[in-house]
Amino acid sequence: MTTSHFTAIVLAAGMGTRMKSSLPKVMNQIGGMPMVGHVLKALDPLHPKHCCVVVGPDMETVTAAVAPHPTAVQHERLGTADAVKAARPVLAGHCDGTVLVIFGDSPFLSTGTLADMIQARENGASVVVLGFRAADPTGYGRLVLGEDNSLEAIVEHRDATDTQRKIDLCNSGVMAIEGDRLFDLVDAVQNNNAKGEYYLTDIVTIAHASGHTCAVIEADEAELMGIDSKADLAIAERRFQGAARQAALDAGVTMHDPDAVWFSHDTQIGVDVEIEPHVVFRPGVCIGNDVTIKAFCHLEGATVADGAVIGPFARLRPGAQIGDKARVGNFVEVKNAILAEGAKANHLSYIGDAHVGASANIGAGTITCNYDGYLKSRTEIGAGAFIGSNTALVAPVSIGDGAIVGAGSTITSDVKKDSIATTRGDLVEKQGAATRFRHKRKRLKAEKSKSR
Ligand code: UD1
Repeated sequence: MTTSHFTAIVLAAGMGTRMKSSLPKVMNQIGGMPMVGHVLKALDPLHPKHCCVVVGPDMETVTAAVAPHPTAVQHERLGTADAVKAARPVLAGHCDGTVLVIFGDSPFLSTGTLADMIQARENGASVVVLGFRAADPTGYGRLVLGEDNSLEAIVEHRDATDTQRKIDLCNSGVMAIEGDRLFDLVDAVQNNNAKGEYYLTDIVTIAHASGHTCAVIEADEAELMGIDSKADLAIAERRFQGAARQAALDAGVTMHDPDAVWFSHDTQIGVDVEIEPHVVFRPGVCIGNDVTIKAFCHLEGATVADGAVIGPFARLRPGAQIGDKARVGNFVEVKNAILAEGAKANHLSYIGDAHVGASANIGAGTITCNYDGYLKSRTEIGAGAFIGSNTALVAPVSIGDGAIVGAGSTITSDVKKDSIATTRGDLVEKQGAATRFRHKRKRLKAEKSKSR
């Protein structure tokens, strides 16, 4: 991808009232990543020399999400031209070349389209606008072309005449502008329009009137989808998942029902991996080769090495590192824990803040008791150790290599290598007592029903 001499301004100050959420609009996630992250990811391969995200007041979450890119605060939402002005102090002296203005709620914009915009600007136009043919243009700014097909104006829907409203070529919001002229152009924008806002789109009329060329590049409407509501967000998520599933299939992943597998923006999967239905990958998952993930598993921030088998019904939480050929079975939760090569936790266990050595066997119902209500502590389980069913390992505690812990034990102190440790009470057996008990109870029941 070309490296260009350009600066990017990403507008993200809108709260998105139609999202009916306290989250800033661009923090709503698609594929486990905030929308604005998708925009920055599309910009990344083009190596902008500066990239400033314009946020509203009290949007620290956006500032944190886009770091290390700087943010500028637009204190009052006075329109897209005013939002660009808000970036001026951050970008002072860095706007020579091209400035690309993008909306932070356009998660499907592609790197290729952005590169085309920069190229078209560098070919000589002062302002390049990314347009699209809208199936339903209602609400969009219309691109008014002159006889030579150059762009003469953008008219917002509310301000457009009936004839202009018939134009189906619409403004996506993405603009590439000659950096040296940008702030002169936005300074000249007035707010005498239906919304009383400073429209960035007005710079086209201003540039055209002073004899500067404005041009349009067209992209597909699907790429330019903006997100305004939770319904739009759900459509965007489906689109993202469709593309992610197709990419996984193309890369050779076997999925019995691709529509029932949910990916994150960063899911990494090796070769010869089989994924059964109803598996959810949250961010930060890396799957090796020859792995099988059985039905109904939830994975987040976890790595799974070659040949491991996960599930059905397993949960891998952040910091889970499942080693080569290890097994994590049904109703097993692993958090911040390493299961080394060939280790097995096949049934009904919680393994948290732990290291499980190679080929160790964790019996059904084993719990690492890692939290005392105040602090977290670690459990170490040695290679080849055998933890019997229904064992509570009260951390901090360590079980040596090859040690055996008897079923039903509560282990509160370290167990040495190759020891057997049990903490059960002694078995008490009273022979014939069950028969005597039953006779006694039967008699009592008969007496009670007679006296009624
Ligand atoms: C805008 C365009 C319109 C285009 C449409 C495409 C203008 C004037 N209109 O209209 O031509 O067809 O997008 O979706 O640009 N924002 C700020 N600060 C503000 C106002 C907006 O940061 O003061 C940001 C918003 O967070 C959003 C973007 O700018 O990311 C667009 O704002 P919005 O109000 O949604 O613009 P539209 O009315 O949709």
